[in-house]
Amino acid sequence: MEKFAVLGCGVVGSGVVELFEKNKALIEKRCGKSLEMGYILDLRDFPDRPYGNKVVKSIDTILADNDVTVVAECMGGVEPAFTFVKACLEHGKSVSTSNKELVAKKGDILLKTAKEHNCNFFFEASVGGAIPIIRPMHKCLAANTFSAVAGILNGTTNFILNKMICDSMDFEAALKLAQELGYAEKDPTADVEGHDACRKICILSSLAFGKHVYPESVFTKGIREVELKDTKYCEQLGFAIKLIAQVKALDNGKILPTVMPMAVKNTNLLSQVNDVFNAVMTETDGADRSMFYGRGAGKFPTASAVLGDMIEQVQLDGTISAQTWESADNADFIEDFAAFSAKRYFRTTAADMAVLTEVFGDVEERTISDDEETVCIVNAEMNAAQVDAAVKALAQKGVQVLAQYPVLV
Ligand code: HSE
Repeated sequence: MEKFAVLGCGVVGSGVVELFEKNKALIEKRCGKSLEMGYILDLRDFPDRPYGNKVVKSIDTILADNDVTVVAECMGGVEPAFTFVKACLEHGKSVSTSNKELVAKKGDILLKTAKEHNCNFFFEASVGGAIPIIRPMHKCLAANTFSAVAGILNGTTNFILNKMICDSMDFEAALKLAQELGYAEKDPTADVEGHDACRKICILSSLAFGKHVYPESVFTKGIREVELKDTKYCEQLGFAIKLIAQVKALDNGKILPTVMPMAVKNTNLLSQVNDVFNAVMTETDGADRSMFYGRGAGKFPTASAVLGDMIEQVQLDGTISAQTWESADNADFIEDFAAFSAKRYFRTTAADMAVLTEVFGDVEERTISDDEETVCIVNAEMNAAQVDAAVKALAQKGVQVLAQYPVLV
């Protein structure tokens, strides 16, 4: 009889326990052996829940039980999760985690530890919730060279932006609703400021390019400054403002990972990803564009991915199958954000198009003028220095830039 343990009985941890109990018979069939929930590690007690008698307070109880072969880490945060996960791996227990901060900051170390101790460190749930993306990138697309990965990787911000676009709901009300529905992180700053999406693109970048990308190397801008009026103007112009996490391989051999709100053209499938849903688009030399879509947050969607990992770990039974990447000095292979170049959406105080055409040149003809503000899409790609120069040139002509977003076509 093999046993598993769950570290942290919050939204995701309790989802793992409940989904396991609901589908125990088929999970065991798929594992090819019987499996029991052995322990739940949590500071709290759960006397009213059926699994209340499984709660333990010390990781040592789990480490000491040789029947525990698989551990689900659903605590969140780096510590004590890192110490506990590392200890489990050092005891030969495979770990599945939903904790993107842990993987983004310590994935290289934990992958190495797992290999050294003949077990697996899996993290399918850490990016895109229920969406199968880690395994497809690691296994199904293994024959390809990646040129780009772009995604909507945060359900909370996608939900908020969608409520702004479709229901004209203001930012705070939409955030409150996302929290009530259990999508947002405990501290919603991580969602709203883009840190959660940043951690996830770090994981996908490390996987795609084989070197650890650390969160501090990624240009990250959240959605707090997105105004209702820009969501409306963009919609009228055939774009949707989305928080896009992406990484591109550049011709100079470096990569450029970014997280920021972008105006996504409505011909791009990512513009159609609404509500709390997430999506990831990969671009590779063999497979071309592939799109992965599903629920990126929530109790059971995330638990589904954690349990999927755990089933594979039981099946693998000591065989190492985990993806791997190297620790790396990010300065050597991550390009500076100043090199980021894209078409742009601008909202300005210009009374008409003449001055904008003068400064930007190739400007998309469809424009909206409202409240003496003029919106345009600049067709030529502009990098940060060119944007700065254009903003200064407009200022000299008495025109202010009120908002600007890079465009994703
Ligand atoms: N707060 C996260 C989100 C949860 O909204 O996507 C899943 O990582």
